[in-house]
Amino acid sequence: MNLIRRPRRNRKSEVIRNLVQENFVTVNDLIFPIFVVEGQNQAIPITSMPGISRFSTDRMLDEIASCVDLGVKAFAPFPVISEDKKDRFATESFNKEGLFPTFIAEVKKNFPDVVLMTDVAMDPYSSDGHDGIVDNGEILNDATLEILAKMALEQARAGADIIGPSDMMDGRIGFIREYLDKNGFQNVALMSYTAKYASAFYGPFREALDSAPKFGDKKTYQMNPANAREALLEAELDTLEGADYLMVKPGLPYLDIIKSLRDNSHLPIAAYNISGEFAMVKAAAQNGWIDGEKAMAEVLLSFKRAGADIILTYFAKEFAQYLKKING
Ligand code: PBG
Repeated sequence: MNLIRRPRRNRKSEVIRNLVQENFVTVNDLIFPIFVVEGQNQAIPITSMPGISRFSTDRMLDEIASCVDLGVKAFAPFPVISEDKKDRFATESFNKEGLFPTFIAEVKKNFPDVVLMTDVAMDPYSSDGHDGIVDNGEILNDATLEILAKMALEQARAGADIIGPSDMMDGRIGFIREYLDKNGFQNVALMSYTAKYASAFYGPFREALDSAPKFGDKKTYQMNPANAREALLEAELDTLEGADYLMVKPGLPYLDIIKSLRDNSHLPIAAYNISGEFAMVKAAAQNGWIDGEKAMAEVLLSFKRAGADIILTYFAKEFAQYLKKING
C-alpha cells in the first residue's frame, strides 16, 4: 500500500508514545473527598465503596498524613451527622463547636499547607435529607440561602480554603460571596457545583452519610440529565456571581459538559468522579471483569482529555500509590 499518512508510526514504541502523549494526570490535579465521623478511633467501612471508610478526626489525621506523603494535598471533607443532630433547618451546620468546623480547624492546625474544599449544602444535617428547607413538600430557595451563608462562614472561620456549594439553589454563589466578603473572608475561594445533575450515581455517597432524601427526589434543584445548554446558563450565572472554579458533577456521564464549559469559560474547571462511578469500577474489578487499576487510570485521564483541570475522586490515594509504583 502506498500510504502517505500512517498514524501508527507515532505509536511504535513506548518512548515515542510518551513523546506524543497529549494529557497527563498528576497528584497535583486531585482532590480527595473524605468522610469524617464523630468519636475516637473510628474507621467504619462503606459497603458500596470498597477501600473507603468513614474516619473519626484522629484517624483521619493519620489518613491525611499518608496521603500527603504520596503527594495528595487537597481534600473535600464531608461530615457524617448523627440522626439526633439533624433538623429541618440544618442548625448543626453552623454550630461553631460542631463536628465539621472542629475537624477543619484540626486539619489546618496539623497540616497548614493542606487545602480543604468544604461542602456547603443542607443535606448532611437535614432531617428531610434535602439540600434546602422543606416547606409543605416544596424546597424553599431564598430562605435556604441564609443557612448556606451561615454554614459557609463557619467553615471559612475554621480555616477552609475553598467553599464548595453543592446545593444547586439559585443565587447562592453571589449570596455566599457577599456574606464571606462582608465578614472579612475575601480570600476564601468558591468552587461552584455549577452543573450538578439529578443523578442515579449518588447512591453510595448517600449510604456513606445516611443522607438520602426522606421523600421525593432532587429534581427541582439538580439539573435534568437531558440538558446541556442549561449548564452554560448555570456557568454564566456562577461566573457573574463570583465563582473561582466551575465544577461538573457527576463526571463520567457528563464529559461533554466538561468540554463545553472548558470551551466557554476562562475559569478552572473541576470534574467530580462521584461515588457511583467509583463503585462501578470497583464492583467490576472485584468480579474480575475489568482490570481495576487500568480502568481507574483511564477514567481519570478522560477528565483531563475533556478539559478538566481538577478531578475530585475517591481514587485519589489509590492513584497516587499507582503512580508511585509505575514511576518509582
Ligand atoms: C449533596 C451532595 C451529594 C454529593 C456531594 N454533595 C449527593 C446528593 O446530591 O445527593 C455526591 C457525591 C458523590 O456521590 O460522590 N449536597
